[in-house]
Amino acid sequence: MRALDIISAKRDGGEHSASELEFMLTGYLDGQIPDYQMSAWLMAVYLRGMSDNETVALTRAMLATGEAMDLSGFTRPTVDKHSTGGVGDKISLVLGPALAAVGMVVGKLTGRGLGHTGGTIDKLESIPGFTTDLSRNQFDHLLRTVGMSLIGAGPGLAPADKRLYALRDVTATVGSIPLIASSIMCKKLAGGAEHIVLDVKTGRGAFLPDIEQSRELARLMIAIGKSFGRKVTAVLSSMDQPLGFAVGNSLEVKEAVAVLRGQGPADVRDLTVTLGAELVMLAGLADHHAAAVQLLNEVLDSGKAWSKFSEFVAGQGGDSNTVENLELLPEAQCKLSVEAHDSGYVHDIDALAVGHCAMLTGAGRERKEDNIDYAAGILLKCEHGTKVEKGQEIATLHGNDLGKLESLVPRLRAAITIESGIPAKKQLVIETIR
Ligand code: URA
Repeated sequence: MRALDIISAKRDGGEHSASELEFMLTGYLDGQIPDYQMSAWLMAVYLRGMSDNETVALTRAMLATGEAMDLSGFTRPTVDKHSTGGVGDKISLVLGPALAAVGMVVGKLTGRGLGHTGGTIDKLESIPGFTTDLSRNQFDHLLRTVGMSLIGAGPGLAPADKRLYALRDVTATVGSIPLIASSIMCKKLAGGAEHIVLDVKTGRGAFLPDIEQSRELARLMIAIGKSFGRKVTAVLSSMDQPLGFAVGNSLEVKEAVAVLRGQGPADVRDLTVTLGAELVMLAGLADHHAAAVQLLNEVLDSGKAWSKFSEFVAGQGGDSNTVENLELLPEAQCKLSVEAHDSGYVHDIDALAVGHCAMLTGAGRERKEDNIDYAAGILLKCEHGTKVEKGQEIATLHGNDLGKLESLVPRLRAAITIESGIPAKKQLVIETIR
């Protein structure tokens, strides 16, 4: 077998066999296939696509390059959630403890943020001491005692994905549906959970802004999960506007804590409950949607989910005092108000533009190797439909570099559209694909 023949077969629209895909991946990982051949193949896949069978075989080959967690020894249902990436998306911080409080085992392989979207590890690492650098024994112990643990995808888990993703990032081949689906699903499968809910974002701030493409991605990931015997549901949700008011690491932890304490923005709570209800039903803990929703509302309102969060933070080395006393979390030295230029109603908050501004405050990474400022970000002071007066504060920029924040004021203001007349309500959850 030769890489050259496999590349030309895909260039000409051919379908690969499982052994050809294994050959490409193992050859790439052991250095037999150089970056330039892998890049050419990725571009051929990007342009020609893959059949469902090929995508399943690719996922299997990616999974086989590393280890997989074995959660089969748990008697309680094992669950996982994945979001395709968003702005202000702190759902995992709320949903994980809520599911653990309901009695499920939440083991998550999780990642860092890149570009305008944030990552769960970065948010949690804004809590002093918190680490996802756990041994498999520590991970297992937390799952058994707390019911929840997060671990970073390390060299042993899905190593092919790590290498391929880095190459896709610099060869304009990230936006290929079969490549995204196999990349996400090999990590979910390596995580070992039996039941998986996927939050597939669509709209301006999403990876794939087009709804038809998001639908196709959701369908394909469900098909992959099914072929591995996992139960998978996908919820298509809008990423046209940021989720909640906070965008940035410690700001988002504070907002997640508010939701866990029964307060916080309604959209964060609603999406948490929607996604959680799907897992509760997949795991058979409720036989209809309303009962599943009730279970989740109960743990959020009673403080059980909040206690789980606190236990989980302490279990992963975090200083739980800082989540009890939020003023102890990293706080920016500079805060700059953005004021409305006109009176009227907020018609639009552009998630992509807000995500870029937040990244530029220091809250995110333009390149993988960039450092982040945990205290930096944006706190919106309005949402879709809010009535505002000219001169009213509509957002605050947080950071430690005043010059940088000043340069972002006009950009952030332009991301928030104010017009006369009450705008029509926007839909957050678009559809559920079971
Ligand atoms: N997230 C992933 O994990 N992989 C992709 O390819 C895209 C988003």
